[in-house]
Amino acid sequence: MHPMLNIAVRAARNAGKVIIRSFEQLDKVEVESKGSSDFVTSVDKNAEQVIIETIRKSYPEHTIIGEEYGLSKGSEDDYQWIVDPLDGTTNFIKGIPHFAVSIALKVKGKLDQAVIFDPIRGELFTASRGKGAQLNGMRIRVKAHKELSATVIATGFPFKQKQHTNAYMAMFTSLFTKVSDMRRAGSAALDLAYVASGRVDGFFEIGLKPWDTAAGELLVIEAGGLVTDFSGGHNHTQSGNIVASSTRLQREILKDIRPHLGDALSK
Ligand code: IPD
Ligand code: CA
Ligand code: CA
Repeated sequence: MHPMLNIAVRAARNAGKVIIRSFEQLDKVEVESKGSSDFVTSVDKNAEQVIIETIRKSYPEHTIIGEEYGLSKGSEDDYQWIVDPLDGTTNFIKGIPHFAVSIALKVKGKLDQAVIFDPIRGELFTASRGKGAQLNGMRIRVKAHKELSATVIATGFPFKQKQHTNAYMAMFTSLFTKVSDMRRAGSAALDLAYVASGRVDGFFEIGLKPWDTAAGELLVIEAGGLVTDFSGGHNHTQSGNIVASSTRLQREILKDIRPHLGDALSK
């Protein structure tokens, strides 16, 4: 295993321990509101702290961008860690056992290493640039369906940006009538990891943040899939609007999304 992936795995497992300990005593967890339908708990913060400490021990000079503590610039800006300590906070708060730790490393602006860890199931999704993607050490691949009719597509509702409800519902309706079924499980990181492992055939969501998608993007690419914005381009890190699936299916999904972009929603 690449030494930096090894550290990412260690950090994710350490954070997983913090998360599981608190999940068993949910009534003691403090919840604060960050914005509309956007919550943060003491656990998100503690888990991020543990991840930062683990990375810093081995790579004190690297830059870390975390959801809760923001940017902590290091002297070596070529190495940027992108951290979501708890993806699926709403599930966590409600006691729904579906959430993950997501850690990615960018080297000179390119995704290089990725870990998504589901501490409930003990599932560790990893990817290294050019080396493929794995689930608990076993190679995973995106499913290559040609047609939408046999597919299950994961998605996320724009619950933090309800101004996009109409555009989102139009995309959803257009796709839903063609696919076999849709899933809204509540963790974008796991949605992408599930695309990478062929559990779902595709994923789309509006307005995600870099820490929601960085690790999942490398997983999907290394598992042979495609990640684009809503126009089929590569603006998804900026816009947060993301589609992931197999190369063939991506074209079909985009046909149902693109017509509904409208004015409020950029590609
Ligand atoms: C959220 C989850 C959710 C997605 C949201 C994200 P958080 O991340 O990934 O599935 O629909 O858009 O913000 O806030 O739980 O880390
Ligand atoms: Ca997230
Ligand atoms: Ca989070």
